[in-house]
Amino acid sequence: MQSVLNYLKQNQPRILAEFCEYLRFASVSAQPNHKQDLLACAKWLVAHCQQIGLSARLCETEGHPIVIATTRSTKSSGKPHYLVYGHYDVQPPEPLELWTTPPFEPRISGRNIFARGSTDNKGQNFAHLKAVEAYYKTGTPLPCDLTFVIEGEEEVGSKSLSGFLKKNRRELACDVIVVSDTGMPAPMRPALTYALRGIIAFEITIHGPSRDLHSGIFGGAVENPAMALAQILAKVRDEKGRIKIPGFYQGVAPLSKYERDQIKRYPLSDSGLKKLLGAPSLFGEKGFSSTEQRSSRPTFEINGLTSGYQGEGSKTIVPAWARAKITCRLVPNQKPAEVRKAVCDYLKKICPPTVRMEIAAGHGAEAYIVSPTSQPAQAALRALEQAFGTKPILMREGGSIPIINEFKKVLGADTLLLGMGLPDDNAHSPNEKFNLDCFECGQRMSAYLWQELSRS
Ligand code: BES
Ligand code: ZN
Repeated sequence: MQSVLNYLKQNQPRILAEFCEYLRFASVSAQPNHKQDLLACAKWLVAHCQQIGLSARLCETEGHPIVIATTRSTKSSGKPHYLVYGHYDVQPPEPLELWTTPPFEPRISGRNIFARGSTDNKGQNFAHLKAVEAYYKTGTPLPCDLTFVIEGEEEVGSKSLSGFLKKNRRELACDVIVVSDTGMPAPMRPALTYALRGIIAFEITIHGPSRDLHSGIFGGAVENPAMALAQILAKVRDEKGRIKIPGFYQGVAPLSKYERDQIKRYPLSDSGLKKLLGAPSLFGEKGFSSTEQRSSRPTFEINGLTSGYQGEGSKTIVPAWARAKITCRLVPNQKPAEVRKAVCDYLKKICPPTVRMEIAAGHGAEAYIVSPTSQPAQAALRALEQAFGTKPILMREGGSIPIINEFKKVLGADTLLLGMGLPDDNAHSPNEKFNLDCFECGQRMSAYLWQELSRS
């Protein structure tokens, strides 16, 4: 083991140079004009995995390619088999003018590397590849088999991977899945995430007059769709932050004392959070701490709100329509289809007869929760502690990784979420970064993990 750790320590400058190469691909999955960049990035990954010593291939899909790389040879080794899942696609970098340096020209400043995709998810996933490289190049036997599944559509809903899993369930059958695409609360404070929130997405459109109207000639005698939408949305939440939709909280289990105590250990104060977010004040459901609110409570969020004239200056109209893009985050025991129905029924019920409401359904996924006391979870906690030198905390997080529910359903295996992202990493925001200490500790954690998991 010591030679693996030494290898990683001695090779950081080269590893960092390779990481920069990886970050230079503008692999933006949401934007069709980047299709070739995703393909080039996937090809680079395949070649890189082969150079490490893995057997790797590019799998075409209807969307962006999936990269599969494995330590396995054809004959069965009898060793445990673990999957490492990650994604090489990234969120759109816009608004570009808010980046200090261009998003696909990685810049190192102190112990941070700035680039789109640095923390979410290229850096976190690359750490695992470098740990395997260290085993191979030092001739240290791996106590397990590993297969990397690195996809190019996570940020747009993992459509192709879902079908790919079903088709390749035999090859991908495994004991546990390891994912580093989540966070840790502070530098050198590692965490095992044992729950993520689920999600439902939809768009509400309110239709009024058949066209935009002169507000002086007709205003006052016809419902304004933007006002109707505002009034409908205002009826969704009360002033204490509770969602008023009947049945919305159906099945939501109260947090146990143990969980609330774990959540209290999360080292980010309300004042620290307020400063980080740049908001005038914090706001959330009464009776829950901010950490509880953003990890363990369901939400109803307006992601986008559009109606009427958006250009410069004024235009006196009654708009023909108004639209809201909505996502609800869900917690364990909430069923996406049931919550979707409860939300739609309520919205339709409170919609006045003066306008017409249309609701278009988007993607959906259940929340994920796994026991933090299982043998693999305990092994992961030991690996985290060895790599970071501090006791890890257990936490629930508010983001979603829909494919991990499919892993459970199709492969029957649990996922260990071992994230290295920091709250100020700016994931999905301008000036995304990854901390290089997190990167190095992540490589070490991965090296320890295979030993600990295979022992348990
Ligand atoms: N890495 C995130 C998920 C995440 C973020 C988990 C923070 C835990 C903490 C992932 O890349 C992501 O952004 N997922 C989307 C899923 C959506 C598009 C269905 C999300 O959570 O919005
Ligand atoms: Zn993301």
